[in-house]
Order: sequence, then structure tokens, then C-alpha cells
Amino acid sequence: TVCNRYAIRSAFFDIAAPADNPQQIADHARYIDDGVLLIEKGKIVGLYPWQQGEARVKAGWSLIDYRGKVILPGFIDTHIHFPQAEIIGAYGEQLLEWLERYTFPAESHYGDMHYATRMAAFFLQQLLSNGTTSAMVFATVHPESVEALFSAAQGLGMRLIAGKVMMDCNAPDNLVETAESSHRQCQALIRRWHGRGRLGYAITPRFAPTSSPELLSAAQRLREEFPDTWLQTHLSENPQEVAWVRELYPDRDNYLDVYHHYRLTGRRSVFAHAIHLDEAEWDCLHQTQSAVAFCPSSNLFLGSGLFRLQQSWHKGVRIGIGTDVGAGTSFSLLQTLGDAYKVGQLQQYRLSACEAFYHATLGGACALDLEDEIGNFATGKTADFVVIDPAVTALQRLRDDKCQDIMERLFVLMTLGDDRNVVATWVNGRPVWQTDCQEVAA
Ligand code: GUN
Ligand code: ZN
Repeated sequence: TVCNRYAIRSAFFDIAAPADNPQQIADHARYIDDGVLLIEKGKIVGLYPWQQGEARVKAGWSLIDYRGKVILPGFIDTHIHFPQAEIIGAYGEQLLEWLERYTFPAESHYGDMHYATRMAAFFLQQLLSNGTTSAMVFATVHPESVEALFSAAQGLGMRLIAGKVMMDCNAPDNLVETAESSHRQCQALIRRWHGRGRLGYAITPRFAPTSSPELLSAAQRLREEFPDTWLQTHLSENPQEVAWVRELYPDRDNYLDVYHHYRLTGRRSVFAHAIHLDEAEWDCLHQTQSAVAFCPSSNLFLGSGLFRLQQSWHKGVRIGIGTDVGAGTSFSLLQTLGDAYKVGQLQQYRLSACEAFYHATLGGACALDLEDEIGNFATGKTADFVVIDPAVTALQRLRDDKCQDIMERLFVLMTLGDDRNVVATWVNGRPVWQTDCQEVAA
């Protein structure tokens, strides 16, 4: 029989409530050096200091001892491409040439259900072994790619949001569709998968340059037909891209206005990158309660530019962190936070560990409108978490010995850490990945 009541003893760190500024994050930070997390049927019953919680651990509960480790809420990757794991580290190009030379050829294989299924299993194992328990994912233009990904995620109980890429121009013939067939295929996928278990559907027009007005209208229609779906796309990543969008859509005020015109902004809309924005675009993101996925690893690798984190606070725009694999070069949110810090440094912005881990957990949950379900250890939330050993390598042990407190330890972790530091990953109140036995059965 499967145990569905666990008491997890460890150190715990989370941010107790959503924040409007970095100071509030620090105010809401919670660290329990010796605590116990009670889990029943996949949900968090409570988190207590061991002294108070011990008596609540009743007979029949499974007590798991992770002392010496730190448990964090599962990481949330708000922007990643499932078919692009196989092109990480593709040399020499910026966005538009990178898409033509590497990305489109790689994505052309995902109409093959067998291939897509194999790669979906690989992709989800990469997420879990890196401590990522939720993600917002681009598949490819092929419905098979979404089918494969959702099937695999459902088996693991993951909170995954994904969608079929929609594109009908400026891409190779074998990857384009018509607006009509795109609409029909998305409709079928939404009916089949949206709201099934923990899965959610994201309407996914790739970006303005591969979208005709008819395709964006089709996306708008889908949103009206299925108002609780998500929407994901790319926005203002690269200067050549921005100039191209201005040529393609001369009647629109700016890049974001292309999407806004088709009512694609709003809560549950997540725009990746948002680097080269003007004032009006920031204001529109705020007014529509749209969210942005900040993808520092990708932005540095493709030389796209520096995201203005400080501006996102100033303008009241919610953000999450995205690895953006395969333009991003790591599945690890730890490494990605290290890159986010460096992007801040280049703009005189100091990204604290507290703020960084907020973005990777509760902040990401807010960006995806999932803060009632995931992001911290609040009672009633789903038990998605990652067990971290901050010192597994010789260098990490040397450095960790000098750390005075949890904030310093977490900061070093985002500088030196990666998947080697992930001891176990739990999803929906069950262990789904552990270092010693690799994959724990679904
Ligand atoms: N813009 C349009 N498509 C893509 C993509 O696949 N990756 C990135 N980084 N930007 C894009
Ligand atoms: Zn992307």
C-alpha cells in the first residue's frame, strides 16, 4: 500500500506571502532550522518547529529524516522549451539566426510520437533532477509533442502548463500550419488536457514574427472560448526581432501592442524576455496584470540584452524565472539565479538570495496565477518541494564552512550550486526523484 501521510524532518526555508517589493520578501522570509513538515494525501497539513510538531506525528505516519539538508519549495520554471534540450550550447548566433540554423530543424522531429515520448521522459527527468516541480512549457507545432509531454507529466503528478506552438509564417514549410487548423488542433488539445489532474493548457503563439493577423485572431478566439487557459509567447527579446515586428505590424504602437490588440495580454499571460520595452509597454503589462518570464541564462547566451528587474518592481509587473532551455544553457534554477545576479550586477542592481529564491518559488507561482496551490509551505498547498544539500563538492564544503547564516548559504548555493545539490524532489506529496535510487517509480 502507498503511504500517504508523511512527516518530514529537516531545515526549511520559504517566503510566507506574496510581495510587492524586495523588502517585503525579506520580511516574509521564514527559516526553521529543525522543523517538521506534515503531509497528508499530497497536501501540506502544517510546518512546525520540531519541538512543537513532534507530538503531531501520529502512529501510521511515515517519518523521514532529512536533517543536515535544507528543504525549499519546488522550483518553478516559468519559461522553457521541451524540444530544445538537444540543442543547448549551439554556437555562434543570436536569436533570429539561432532559430533558423538550430531550433527549427530540431523541432521538426516532434511530429513522431515515439521520438516525442522518449524526449518527454528525458525532459521531465531533467526538471525533477534539478528540483523543478512546475514549469510553463513550449512544445512544438505538432499536437503529438503536447500529447507526449502531458502524458508523461500526468504519470508523475506534476503541475505542468504547456501548449502546442502556433505558427503560420516565416518558418520552414514543415513547421507551419494554417490559422484554421491551428485553432482546431488547439481546441482538441484543450478539451482533452486542460484541467486534467494538475495539467493546464497554455495557448502558445510562438512570437509575433511567426504569427499572421489571422493566427493571432485564432489565439484570441481560443482565449475567449477557454477563459481559464494560460497564454505564453515571446516579447521583445532581441533588437533585430523588435525592428522586424515594427515592419510586420506597422499599425501597432509597439511590440506588446501586437498581442494586446488581439486581447492576448492579461492575468495568466506570460511574456518571455521583455528586455527592450518602452514605457508604454511596461504600463500595459502592469495594467493588464500580465507576467514576464526573466530568462537570464538565455539572455546572456544569445546576447539578447539585460532584463530590468528593478523596473519590473517599479512598474508593478509580476515576474518569474525561466531557464529558456535550449537558448538557456542549464535546467538548474540555481545556476539561472546565479546568472540573474550577474545581470543585476551589470545594472547596479543587487539581487539578494532572498529575492532570488522568491522569484524561483512563490514569485513564479504568482506569475502563473498558482499562488494558492504552490510556491511555499503554507497549510493547504500541494506538497511540491526540493531537498537540497548545500555542500556536496569539495569546493562547496570549503565555502559552506565560512557561511554564517542561511542567507549567505543560499547565496553561495545560487553561485556554486546545480543539480548535484538536489538530494530529492517531491511532487504531490510523493518522492519522484532521489540521488541514491535515481528515478522513484511513478
Ligand atoms: N523567440 C521565438 N522563438 C523562440 C525560441 O524558441 N527561443 C527563444 N529564446 N526565443 C524565441
Ligand atoms: Zn523561449
